Amino acid sequence: MLRDQDRIFTNIYGLKDKSLKGAMARGHWDGTKQLLEKGRDWIINEVKASGLRGRGGAGFPTGLKWSFMPKESDGRPHYLVVNADESEPGTCKDRDIMRHDPHTLIEGCVIASFAMGAHHAFIYVRGEFMREREALQAAIDECYDYGLLGKNNKLGYDIDIVVHHGAGAYICGEETALLESLEGKKGQPRLKPPFPANMGLYGCPTTVNNVESIAVTPTILRRGASWYTSFGRPNNHGTKLYSISGHVNRPCTVEDAMSITFQELIETHCGGIRGGWDNLLAVIPGGSSVPCVPGAQMKDAIMDYDGLRELGSGLGTAAVIVMDKSTDIVKAIWRLAAFYKHESCGQCTPCREGTGWMMRVMERMVKGNAQKREIDMLFDVSKQIEGHTICALGDAAAWPIQGLIRHFRPEMEKRIDQYTHKAMAHGAVLEA
Ligand code: NAI
Ligand code: SF4
Repeated sequence: MLRDQDRIFTNIYGLKDKSLKGAMARGHWDGTKQLLEKGRDWIINEVKASGLRGRGGAGFPTGLKWSFMPKESDGRPHYLVVNADESEPGTCKDRDIMRHDPHTLIEGCVIASFAMGAHHAFIYVRGEFMREREALQAAIDECYDYGLLGKNNKLGYDIDIVVHHGAGAYICGEETALLESLEGKKGQPRLKPPFPANMGLYGCPTTVNNVESIAVTPTILRRGASWYTSFGRPNNHGTKLYSISGHVNRPCTVEDAMSITFQELIETHCGGIRGGWDNLLAVIPGGSSVPCVPGAQMKDAIMDYDGLRELGSGLGTAAVIVMDKSTDIVKAIWRLAAFYKHESCGQCTPCREGTGWMMRVMERMVKGNAQKREIDMLFDVSKQIEGHTICALGDAAAWPIQGLIRHFRPEMEKRIDQYTHKAMAHGAVLEA
């Protein structure tokens, strides 16, 4: 278990003073000016050396992403955009950062903006996050008052931070849809490339980072890249916020080391699985966009990018959704199918048509009112969607269904048999 002194987030449960004064007393904003004085290259190299990977779900190396920003300006301003549109089902970690530990994010914005030559940072907050926006804005206002933000500030680097409140569309968490929305347009993803580093907000060089990715960087720089790499294993370094929900005794969001085992995570922080380990049916380990893994395979799973990929799933946002044997797994995955159908922006055909088609077939699968050959057909359709769409929502809709078929096919077939049986029995009564 991570020692208290190794935690980056010192107020994730909101038990301490979240004001600037309280944050400073807990070590945040300590020596920020001195960090900036070490220069852009030092900051980017240190973030690269720390092995930090994007905490929004995709796990792209953060330092590498920062290094994509053009060094020399061609007259276009540079922007930092923080993706705080946390909407992935099961994910509730960025919310806690903004509500309870907002200064980690604001200090991170200053450092990241400096490293990339941006004088404006936008934080795009999910529409439903009212309290989070208020807490964030209050913390930003404090920083302006104290002279940490704005022109001619105490840190010697002009920087403005603007909080933008979204309108509650899941697709606006996709980075290019977010940029469209920020520009005042309909939130629909753009084709990539060009990536935002070349052509982002208002056509200018932009880096889009997740809240947690930005919020951890000041502490990494203060304590050093080698401190950060002392957690986890190669390619999977650092500490991580896990949001654990579902059938555990104490659901929570907790910071622990990467590469912890699932069993240790659940036993240490959640008081175990409801009804014991034998009662575990399945786990979605990284937010709704990754396939589920049967309980028996999860117990010893290593909670990192590589460990969960080897199990055919992914770390994603580290939103760990635990399902015990009381769960109707077919219905649970149908519910996700309905979510993706609802949230599809409708721009590309495989996603627009495919998500609706999958949801309708899944609806029949829940009842068993289907034919067994349709299970293969459902799998084929999900494969036609995967990799054939503009953004990752198509993949996200396909993968949970693929996971269900891969691991719970007998359950689906059993329902079809039961339904057929009942129908025949009913038919027999009618004939009598
Ligand atoms: P992605 O892999 O396309 O991109 C990840 C990041 O790396 C992006 O910022 C992208 O611009 C950058 N990137 C990738 N290749 C690049 C290249 N060649 N050059 C320059 N930059 C490059 O993944 P995406 O679509 O951004 O995110 C998908 C993930 O988001 C899913 O795996 C899911 O886990 C997660 N997600 C998280 C949500 C949340 O609420 N946190 C909501 C929905 C999905
Ligand atoms: Fe829109 Fe879906 Fe296409 Fe993404 S994959 S652009 S959400 S239609």
